[in-house]
Amino acid sequence: GTEPGARPRTRGVHAPSRAAIPQRHLRTDRWWLAPAATAAGLLLFVVYSTWRAFADADYYQAPYVSPFYSPCLAERCEPMRDGPNWEVVGGWWGLSPALLILILPLGFRLTCYYYRKAYYRGFWSSPPACAVPEPRGRYTGETRFPLIWQNGHRYFFYAAVLVAGVLTYDAVLTFRDASYGWGHMGLGTVVFTVNALLIWAYTLSCHSCRHIVGGRLRHFSRHPVRYRLWSWAGRLNGHHAKLAWASLVSVALADLYVYLLATGAFDDPRFF
Ligand code: FES
Repeated sequence: GTEPGARPRTRGVHAPSRAAIPQRHLRTDRWWLAPAATAAGLLLFVVYSTWRAFADADYYQAPYVSPFYSPCLAERCEPMRDGPNWEVVGGWWGLSPALLILILPLGFRLTCYYYRKAYYRGFWSSPPACAVPEPRGRYTGETRFPLIWQNGHRYFFYAAVLVAGVLTYDAVLTFRDASYGWGHMGLGTVVFTVNALLIWAYTLSCHSCRHIVGGRLRHFSRHPVRYRLWSWAGRLNGHHAKLAWASLVSVALADLYVYLLATGAFDDPRFF
């Protein structure tokens, strides 16, 4: 019931059209497990990546450059002078070079359709799970500032393709040994190659990618190439959530690997 003078609550579970049942919801399973696990996993990554992004150290050990710091755009990318050189930002940049580049993958993941679901549920309870109402009485969706910016996802997708290209380049460089040349591998080569593949799979499984390659067409029959690409993107898209997690873990592991090498915790095992 509505208190006299209070704003009438007319939406969601308070909508007049809803069946008059006293329970907030009728789910009896452990529906809170998935949003709780999601929130914990995301929080762990946020803490780790924030620490590493601001560390401004231990991000290069030839031939490996941490994906958090690549491409390293600032002049202060001193430690990797002999590595891939992308210095387009001058010496005026005094902060960690990771901050220059992380904004792109961060924006891509923050506006991603899957991650939106994950953090709306995990952190905002909006809604916490299927058939469990959110605590708020009003729902405005993504129609207003700031959430209307989520529409920019497709632009972050273009940036993410560039970043995936750079990480691929970095992975190729891990096949080169400083003293023996090309065609040599270490454990890091495997870590970097798997990471690059997962980043590509996540990026190409993006909902925006699927729309970019196959959307806004009236007849697929007249666009066989785009139809083919759209089918591939669609197949990958079915695994988008899994790829989002797999690539999140792999990118953190690749960074951790470089950190451990750079701090001398162990040496890169070489295969040949
Ligand atoms: Fe997830 Fe585009 S929808 S990356």
